[in-house]
Amino acid sequence: MSAGLFITLEGIDGAGKSSHLDALEALLRQGGRTVVRTREPGGTPLAESLRDLVLTRAMDALTESLLVFAARRDHVTQVIAPALARGEVVLCDRFTDATFAYQGGGRGFDAGVLQALEGWVQAQEGEGAHGLLQPDLTFWFDLPPDVAAERLASARVPDRFEAQPAEFFRRVAAGYAARAAGQPRFERIDAAQPREQVWAQVEAALRRRGLAA
Ligand code: TMP
Repeated sequence: MSAGLFITLEGIDGAGKSSHLDALEALLRQGGRTVVRTREPGGTPLAESLRDLVLTRAMDALTESLLVFAARRDHVTQVIAPALARGEVVLCDRFTDATFAYQGGGRGFDAGVLQALEGWVQAQEGEGAHGLLQPDLTFWFDLPPDVAAERLASARVPDRFEAQPAEFFRRVAAGYAARAAGQPRFERIDAAQPREQVWAQVEAALRRRGLAA
């Protein structure tokens, strides 16, 4: 049985990451892998309910952080860890890097508290499992916040995050950059390029890492 593989997609709202999920899933399946596609906040009935609250209700940054980590705990125990244990690929639209970027960077919330919560929620127990559960590979769709704001303006009805001012997204983007610095699991994708070229970067990164033929 192959080892499980945990892949996440990250970036500020409007960076275009979700539009590459179908192609990414198809490419991984072509390699014969079973792919579990999921998202955060969400991925289980309980976590999807928490997502609704986080995206629509006013709350302070600690409450927001606790709710995204509560949703994550359910998601990790019910979906992510079991799939990885079966040797499957988990393809997840956002994970904890988003918490460090949005709650830590965007809201300016205490990174030490987030690290403590991460330690509680992502602790791996059991045979052969040590340390924190982290993605094996993270595609970071990097786009200047001003460009993302233009893209979002013509899109959909904004949620609590999408409705934030440009300054918020500058802090979120800085949060992602800080989190990615020196971490080999991050693949920075230049999301300002046309869509086909963005996809070409994703495909090339998968091939370079031996994850696609
Ligand atoms: P989505 O629109 O990409 O599905 O993400 C939902 C929103 O939730 C997005 O604006 C980012 C935000 N978010 C956080 O603030 N913290 C988190 O930990 C996660 C996973 C998402």
